[in-house]
Amino acid sequence: MTTDLVYLKEDAYFEPLINHWFAWSYLVPPVQAARYITTRHRRTMASFVKNSELHILAAQESVLSGGDFLDARADQVEDIRKLIQEIDEHRADLVALSDAVRELDDLIRKHTSGESIEYLYALVPEPLKGYVEIYMDMNHNPSYRLLERLLYRSRHYQPSLQSASFGLVSRVQQRPFCFSTPRLPDENHLQLPLHFNAPELTTILRSRVEGAPRAIIDFIFSSAPRRGGLDYRELFVDSPPRRLHEPVISGTRLRFLGHASFLLETPDLAIAMDPVIAVRGESYQDEVFSYSELPAKLDYVCITHNHQDHYNLETLLQLRHKTGKLILPVNNGGTLPDPSMKLIAHQLGFQVIEVDDFDEIPVPGGKLTAIPFLGEHGDLNVRSKTVWFIELHGRKFFFGADATNYDPWMYRHVREMVGDVDVLAIGMECVGAPYTWLYGALNTKVVSKNVMNSRRLNGANAEQAYRMVETFKARQVYLYAMGMESWYKYFMGTDYNENSEQIVQSDKMIRLCAEKGIPCERLVGKKTIYF
Ligand SMILES: [Fe+2]
Ligand SMILES: [Fe+2]
Repeated sequence: MTTDLVYLKEDAYFEPLINHWFAWSYLVPPVQAARYITTRHRRTMASFVKNSELHILAAQESVLSGGDFLDARADQVEDIRKLIQEIDEHRADLVALSDAVRELDDLIRKHTSGESIEYLYALVPEPLKGYVEIYMDMNHNPSYRLLERLLYRSRHYQPSLQSASFGLVSRVQQRPFCFSTPRLPDENHLQLPLHFNAPELTTILRSRVEGAPRAIIDFIFSSAPRRGGLDYRELFVDSPPRRLHEPVISGTRLRFLGHASFLLETPDLAIAMDPVIAVRGESYQDEVFSYSELPAKLDYVCITHNHQDHYNLETLLQLRHKTGKLILPVNNGGTLPDPSMKLIAHQLGFQVIEVDDFDEIPVPGGKLTAIPFLGEHGDLNVRSKTVWFIELHGRKFFFGADATNYDPWMYRHVREMVGDVDVLAIGMECVGAPYTWLYGALNTKVVSKNVMNSRRLNGANAEQAYRMVETFKARQVYLYAMGMESWYKYFMGTDYNENSEQIVQSDKMIRLCAEKGIPCERLVGKKTIYF
């Protein structure tokens, strides 16, 4: 056996798939997965089969990116039709589970008397029997929560739906948008039926920086059934990546890694926030910090909330082997739109610390504090969200991600507890999609346009963001998490121009700060700041 090493190419991308679609966190918990697969995925694919010309035209329009248009070719209609057939003929269990959610919702809606719900247990549809708790709120409205741990141990949790897809940025123009397009094993991709916890997958992913013996890689790829036209040997090179991690010798270094990601490092600590790490495509190779530039160990990976651009499974699976603890906000106990991020991470083999508001985690030189996050979830009862407040060697950092400032009183109260901040980073995707863009598959009745348009996934606008700056007397401000990087378009779907409200509002914010002499910058790509 030869022992020469090969390395996953810097522009090779890995996509975790669940039932042929890009795996984001809501496809892991079984009930939510059943809803997305049998409603949104199936509906989009059926629409493509019926109106492929329209989809193909729309998918080419940049302004429609992020829409429900399936981005495939005319000669792939048959492949898509087969995916629908697979759901209809072989996923009867998922269809039944998804239908059970609809039936349970119907039952709950009919219970308007305000009297005891006990009789409803006998009527719970069979797939959900024993997996729900039905309850009343204080206004006598019935609802239910899923007993999530039981569900993960049930027949409904199916890791066999997981697989791995590999491609090369050099071979594709742009990855299709993750919520509209299934991943086909076409001539530019290679898919393997590897479970996300398969050691073979970890070997492949680690090889990007550490290398792996060529014979092992040959064995993995030749022993698993492969689908797709990309030769696995094209994914690897003989030489290690050129750009490597630069250790921090003294002080504190803050690195913006793109979109919502920061890396905070001292000589004895590395903390990543909402990591979404880009592979190094040639056209933007100097604009990103890619995997090879990360430290060998991430002591803590802090996540703000359960959206695909923050709790990003594609990146997290590639960082898993070097992640000490993944720190996640607690959920509300298992309602449909708020699955436990901790239980999702447990299925993926992470060591997790779950935090509630004001929980503190001591770290060398300081502490991490979870502080409340309001908004950006379409007014749904989603509890899984936190802003990260980090004190390190006397400096205070506020990583707000998509938190809005609906109620300025809240952060005034918080400020009493935590004090002023030195660096405030806040997202300003102030006009987000209607909430149904992300959560619509969980609705079992049609949502009216009025409701959809009023309840959006809006981040902070200039006024809300500036109030945070004032409240915390921030000395330095960074605007981020706006989907500004073109290489993240496949999971952001954003397409800005100078008149886009997000740009107008963030420009306004920069002006407001400038008037008060506070440095404020909109971050794109990468940046390094030393303290
Ligand atoms: Fe978000
Ligand atoms: Fe976001």
